[in-house]
Amino acid sequence: MRLSILQYGDAILRAKGKHVEKIDDRIRELARDMIETMHAASGVGLAAPQIGESLQLTVLDVSQVEDRPSTMKLNGKDVDPQTAMPLVLINPHIDLGGETEMGTEGCLSFPEITGEIDRAKSIIVHAQNLDGEPIELETTGFLARAIQHEVDHLKGILFIDRMSSAAKTSLSSKLKRLQKETQRGEKHRPKAVAETTL
Ligand code: NI
Repeated sequence: MRLSILQYGDAILRAKGKHVEKIDDRIRELARDMIETMHAASGVGLAAPQIGESLQLTVLDVSQVEDRPSTMKLNGKDVDPQTAMPLVLINPHIDLGGETEMGTEGCLSFPEITGEIDRAKSIIVHAQNLDGEPIELETTGFLARAIQHEVDHLKGILFIDRMSSAAKTSLSSKLKRLQKETQRGEKHRPKAVAETTL
C-alpha cells in the first residue's frame, strides 16, 4: 500500500523517532509499504517519520543510482550493494568516519529542493534487520550519504539544517511557501529530483 509522504512544515518531521521494541508483522508490513512508497516516488531512501510514523525505521534502495557508486560490507563480508537492496534498517546507530565530502541531495519531504551537504565519506552502521537480527554495515560512497540523511530524519534533523547559511537564505522564500502550503493542507506530489532524493 502506498503511503502519503509528509512535507516540510509537518511537526512529525521534527520529532525524534521512537525505538522499535518489537519487530512484528506490523513493522514488517510498514517496511513493505515504505519500500513501495519510496519506489513509487522514485526516491532512494525513506524514513518512517516521513510517512507519519515516529519510529526508528528507514528503508533505502540505491540500486538505480549509477553515477554515484557505493561500497558495502555486511557483517564483515563484501557485498554488492545492488544485490543488497532494498535495505531496511531498524534502530540504526552510526559511527562516522573522519573524512567528509560535499554532495548533492534532495528530500522527498522537500519537493523540488536540492542542496549541497557535507557528509562523512564512510560510516559504520549498527542496526537490526526485519528478522530482529543485529547487523553491522560498513559503507562508503552514495549509500553512506543516503544512510546519514535517513538517520538524521529519525532524529528530527532535516537536510536544510546542514546547508550553508547562504544556501538556506537563498531558499528561504521557497521554504516559507512550502511550510504554509503544508499548514493549509495542500500537497505537492512528491517527486524525486534526479537520483538523489531521500
Ligand atoms: Ni529526506
